[in-house]
Amino acid sequence: MSSGDDTAFRAAVVTVSDKGAAGEREDRSGAVVREMLEEAGLEVARVEIVPDDTARLEALLRDVCDAGMDLLVTTGGTGVSPRDVTPEATLRVIDREVPGLAEAMRAESLKVTPHAMLSRAVCGLRGSTLIINLPGSPKGARECLSVVLPAVPHALEVAAGAVSECASPSPD
Ligand code: MTE
Repeated sequence: MSSGDDTAFRAAVVTVSDKGAAGEREDRSGAVVREMLEEAGLEVARVEIVPDDTARLEALLRDVCDAGMDLLVTTGGTGVSPRDVTPEATLRVIDREVPGLAEAMRAESLKVTPHAMLSRAVCGLRGSTLIINLPGSPKGARECLSVVLPAVPHALEVAAGAVSECASPSPD
């Protein structure tokens, strides 16, 4: 955990892909996510590739969260193919959903492609670790992460109990 001032929030990137895990495809999406998180000032402390397998993904998500990450971003496996199980594994490990993040990603993505409505991405908290599901393509991952990234530092501060009140970003 971090206050965000002197110590960076710690993040993990998990790519969910049968081909990626088998070494048959370069993990371009994971690289995109890592780069964006680092540009936003987060420390990417762990990077993993796992096949589209509910039990293995669930175990990895638990392990990564419980190792003390502030943020866990997955890419891939959110669609409607029979092997797409990332939302199911995520729902099994989170305590509370943060539906606005996934709603915002789908709403903004619909302006880019009608296929946005095919992503079943889930976002939520396991303890104080925020999990965000992104689509698997580098383009989709970049577009969706750019939608939610502005809200992430505040989410992590509040989830960690580092701020007691939510200050309004604009006076009203
Ligand atoms: N969202 C954005 N912003 N841009 C995209 O290109 N691709 C869509 C959707 N969301 C896309 C997107 C497509 S084609 C699919 S099938 C779903 O995400 C699920 O992708 P996944 O199965 O790789 O997770």
